[in-house]
Amino acid sequence: MTIKAFIFDLDGVITDTAEFHFLAWKQLADEIGVSFTREDNDQLRGVSRRESLKRLLKGRPVDEATAEVWMQRKNDIYREFLHQITPADSLPGVVHFLDEARKRGILIGLGSASKNARDVIERLKLMDYFEALGDGYSVVNPKPAPDLFIWVAGRLGVPPNEAVVFEDAEAGVDAALKGGFWTVGLGRAGVNAAHLVKEDGLKTLTVDAVLEVASG
Ligand code: BG6
Ligand code: MG
Repeated sequence: MTIKAFIFDLDGVITDTAEFHFLAWKQLADEIGVSFTREDNDQLRGVSRRESLKRLLKGRPVDEATAEVWMQRKNDIYREFLHQITPADSLPGVVHFLDEARKRGILIGLGSASKNARDVIERLKLMDYFEALGDGYSVVNPKPAPDLFIWVAGRLGVPPNEAVVFEDAEAGVDAALKGGFWTVGLGRAGVNAAHLVKEDGLKTLTVDAVLEVASG
């Protein structure tokens, strides 16, 4: 099988915005009187804004209008943090890996649950690498549904079994596997179901190692 495309998650794969998400949710939680710890935050990795709020509230009921206000508040705080992002904030190995992939003629796509993904990629000055950008606006059903990755693959014109997804979150690995993609799990938590797992992310991963797994 020839691999024609790589599709990357953003948060935790290309850059580490998890701390900003945590600080923003934490501030909202404090404002609305809900306890929220770093451990709680681990349950929010890779899931949509709406699902994140649901998990943060731990069963506390909320009407839809209030939920919208709270999500907007969290996003306003989060977006303040995004001003700090510069091209130096892509994770170790990312730019080299993207360069290697591009040299091989592999198409590159982004598959992020975040509605801020385009902004983050622009701040990192990585936009030129991406032939397709799927974000929190692209599909209705968020990860762990496979819809977003399938949407990106469609934009790239590549079937799922000729594409590799790179993910750091369980919801993302599940989504990729469900969609029939080759899947690389990055980091330690919840990614063991992937075809290949690299604890240190893209830092020491080579394009060859990925292609070897995906052709076997
Ligand atoms: C994912 C993050 O990429 O995007 C989640 O891992 C986040 O933590 C989700 O909740 C949605 O992001 P945003 O920017 O649309 O609130
Ligand atoms: Mg992620």
